[in-house]
Amino acid sequence: MSDAVPPSALSEVQLRFLCHDDIENVKLLCGDWFPIEYPDSWYQDITSNKKFFSLAATFRGGIVGMIVAEIKGRTKVHKEDGDILASSFPVETQVAYILSLGVVKDFRKHGIGSLLLDSLKEHISTTAQDHCKAIYLHVLTTNTTAIHFYENRDFRQHHYLPYYYSIRGVLKDGFTYVLYINGGAPALDRIGLHPAPGLGAGRPEPLLHPSEALQARPGSAALAAALVQHRLQDRHPVLQNHVTSKERTSSVFP
Ligand SMILES: CC(C)(COP(=O)(O)OP(=O)(O)OC[C@H]1O[C@@H](n2cnc3c(N)ncnc32)[C@H](O)[C@@H]1OP(=O)(O)O)[C@@H](O)C(=O)NCCC(=O)NCCS
Repeated sequence: MSDAVPPSALSEVQLRFLCHDDIENVKLLCGDWFPIEYPDSWYQDITSNKKFFSLAATFRGGIVGMIVAEIKGRTKVHKEDGDILASSFPVETQVAYILSLGVVKDFRKHGIGSLLLDSLKEHISTTAQDHCKAIYLHVLTTNTTAIHFYENRDFRQHHYLPYYYSIRGVLKDGFTYVLYINGGAPALDRIGLHPAPGLGAGRPEPLLHPSEALQARPGSAALAAALVQHRLQDRHPVLQNHVTSKERTSSVFP
């Protein structure tokens, strides 16, 4: 497809919501973009459940990028990110969680990722208005391209999450990144007014220290499985960033 990508590709890009007919295509794209395998229910969910903002960028009819996000109440935030918003915000306050953002390799650096992110922000401003105070996501610490992408768009690192992922059986660390909008702000201990034990003023420290995590579980693989199970028990609908190798997924999702 690279020969077919003109410098002006962005001007031809169109946006539309994902639908059921996109499932097989989206599976292939996610297989390219992420070292993970989602259960079929994930694809069903993101293409049909209206609670997801699932937007495709198309070029001459083919999908070349997509963003999937969920706007949800602050009480539905992942436990490890429970301090994303200061407790003074009312329980009705909303946050947006980006489950997935990807662009076909040959179409990267054409502005399509930015277009998709901007579309999410626009959606938030029209549907959640100023009730949504933060946009957050999880990313592998080694995914420097994505980290630069988000940092250049004012997202800031919020948590360091050791052993957050299991990629082909190897545990990998993650970060939580957050963009505050509409006057959103983190818990006070995250902005240095009341330092919490174990949290320095600079780079966030692990929520779980590796030794504690491993002692608490029979082994690292079990910890990763437990994290996945935890998401399932929480009915967290999508496992994008929390999963797991293709072989691990098959055992978690028989
Ligand atoms: C992260 C990702 C979605 C970014 O998508 P993208 O379409 O390349 O994003 P953009 O083109 O909008 O921006 C990327 C860079 O290209 C630059 N760019 C945009 N148009 C350009 C052009 N015409 N010429 C040169 N550079 C351009 C942007 O300025 C940006 O650089 P900056 O961050 O220094 O400002 C993409 O790299 C990707 O799909 N990665 C794999 C999946 C992934 O890791 N997703 C994130 C998981 S959390």
